[in-house]
Amino acid sequence: MPTPTVIEARAVRRVFESRKGFLFTDVTRTEALRGVDLTVERGEIFGLLGPNGAGKTTLTKILSTLLIPTSGEAKVLGLDVVRQAAELRPRIGLVLGGERGLYYRVSARENLRYFADLFGVPLDQRAARIDEVLERVGLSAAADRRVEEFSRGMKQKLHLARGILHRPELLFLDEPTIGLDPKSARETRKLIRALIEDGVTIFLTTHYMFEAEELCHRLAVLSKGQIVARDTVAGLRRLVGGDRTIEVEAYGFEDEEIETVRRLPGVSRVVSEEFGPRLRLTLRIATSETTPDDVRAALASHAELTVRERPTQLEDVYLDLVEEEAN
Ligand SMILES: Nc1ncnc2c1ncn2[C@@H]1O[C@H](COP(=O)(O)OP(=O)(O)OP(=O)(O)O)[C@@H](O)[C@H]1O
Ligand SMILES: [Mg+2]
Repeated sequence: MPTPTVIEARAVRRVFESRKGFLFTDVTRTEALRGVDLTVERGEIFGLLGPNGAGKTTLTKILSTLLIPTSGEAKVLGLDVVRQAAELRPRIGLVLGGERGLYYRVSARENLRYFADLFGVPLDQRAARIDEVLERVGLSAAADRRVEEFSRGMKQKLHLARGILHRPELLFLDEPTIGLDPKSARETRKLIRALIEDGVTIFLTTHYMFEAEELCHRLAVLSKGQIVARDTVAGLRRLVGGDRTIEVEAYGFEDEEIETVRRLPGVSRVVSEEFGPRLRLTLRIATSETTPDDVRAALASHAELTVRERPTQLEDVYLDLVEEEAN
């Protein structure tokens, strides 16, 4: 029976030390991860969100045995990522993207032959498997071109092909659609869903909120090396206080007016920001009590008032959470 929990991280910390200066005596310490606890269940798409530098890639690398934690421990597919790394590696796939990790002087197909060899794909299945993954990522037509001629998006697709070549049970994707045009990004999301149907578990990081909302069963938000929230998209919406969002714009608001709005029933949060020459108040609302008309009535003294309601998006939730952390 396969274990239902495929990732179990406990108190994972990672400190980077970089040395500079005369004789490299200046040591800068960066605590990239400050005690991360996380579980991911078999068959889910788990999304990790967070600002630049939050520690997403560091965590992805630790869970995929590329980096070791400074302290804490992590089990992936029931195996310890440090002590049982060699056993774990053939069962997971990792797509970090970027410019590294591909051989530029040879073709996409030759790259994949090399990795098939490295991953131990049986010889008699190799050619068919390579054709299959090239097809799945949409690179069949470019299969025999040298990688140095590839665009950024084509390289990203080749990274993805390499990541699934050995049919891993668990796939780590660090920003899988970065640099892809909208059509390729959509095809990649389709491929991710197809992999889930094949029974693969996926751990992905992304900066695209709609992508996370569309794909992920559960999400965690990482901020400065710590997980600040972890739930389903619906759960995260509840966490920040509401499914409904009302936006109000005018040429400035008095503090008392903002207070009045804040006290309206069900209003859990009011954020004000400049929006061109106007000021925008964004209200997060948990119940159906306060309507746009109530808000309009509360701010009746303003002639030039715009009020509109929209559903709370994952992006709102994310910004609320990350902003709370910053305060
Ligand atoms: N090899 C390294 N040496 C020193 N510091 C590092 C190293 N790798 C990462 N860091 C630092 O660790 C922190 C987390 O970096 P990480 O790459 O994990 O962030 P991220 O969440 O993936 O960011 P992004 O969204 O920009 O990809 C940052 O402060 C970064 O500067
Ligand atoms: Mg990163």
